[in-house]
Amino acid sequence: MYPLRRNRRLRLNESVRSLVRETVVTPNDFIVPLFVEEGKGVKEGIASMPDYYRYSLDLLVGEVKELWALGIKSVLLFVKVPDHLKDNKGTEAANPDGLMQRAIRTVKEAVPEMVVMTDVALDPYSVYGHDGIVEGGKIVNDATVEALCAMGLSHAAAGADFIAPSDMMDGRILALRETLENNSFEDVGIMAYSAKYASAFYGPFRDALESAPVDAQNIPKDKKTYQMDFHNRLEALREVRMDIEEGADIVMVKPGLPYLDVVREVKNKSEVPVAVYQVSGEYAMTKAAAANGWLDHDAVMMEQLVAIKRAGADLIATYFAKEAAKLL
Ligand code: PBG
Repeated sequence: MYPLRRNRRLRLNESVRSLVRETVVTPNDFIVPLFVEEGKGVKEGIASMPDYYRYSLDLLVGEVKELWALGIKSVLLFVKVPDHLKDNKGTEAANPDGLMQRAIRTVKEAVPEMVVMTDVALDPYSVYGHDGIVEGGKIVNDATVEALCAMGLSHAAAGADFIAPSDMMDGRILALRETLENNSFEDVGIMAYSAKYASAFYGPFRDALESAPVDAQNIPKDKKTYQMDFHNRLEALREVRMDIEEGADIVMVKPGLPYLDVVREVKNKSEVPVAVYQVSGEYAMTKAAAANGWLDHDAVMMEQLVAIKRAGADLIATYFAKEAAKLL
């Protein structure tokens, strides 16, 4: 009770504040999403993601070494697939010499200790821009899971440390876990995008990979039959519980900042590490406001990352990782 208790004593100066600080973000918390494309000497900007790039494999090497030198321990790989390799079944996704599989080997060769995580979903490989196979105007579940298993297995064979299914098909964690076990990849982990919402915040990412769902007759125009309805909370807990039962090593909530209520609930109810994906739209909003001089870029970036960790994130996938690591 005041005046016995003056809360401002613990805010008196920076030294005291750092002594009593509850949440600290470090580069160990970060997972860096990396966009890869074919070619040589390519470092290509993404219009809706300022200061973010797609790299060809030769330039990826330097980038990964730089990240490692900054104290970053993990990258999450995404590939931009040439149009002529896309089909409905995502056949190219399991090609042992596909771009993803070569990217995994490239990163592991450049920095063997770097934890390499890979996106497992068909959308970059799909002519329709969907995470699953389309049949009769529907995204079919079980056939997609089969394709994802072939894809995930090829990532493990190429040297991935964790596969990260971002597709939201039912039962894919169990199927992937069994596939890994049955093929002597018992040490390869699964980071499950467990509570992944159908979000409009993914727009810039779909620009980066040219992977947006196509607008055509009889093709669903959004991902709402597999990604979660953002009005829901309990559904996230159910998805997380089932993914853990099916063998997920890490569960994820996505997007980040608008979903921190969900992050906290998932954290309170789970005994595995919780990852949060601060997605492309969150990044784009911050960059746009900062470019206009409306917000202090670095301060707002750090505040968001701390908020995500304070909400319960053990790991944060973020496009700010490199810039934040430089500041820390
Ligand atoms: C694809 C995938 C998406 C993201 C990660 N994996 C897009 C989508 O589901 O449409 C979004 C990441 C971001 O917006 O930063 N399965």
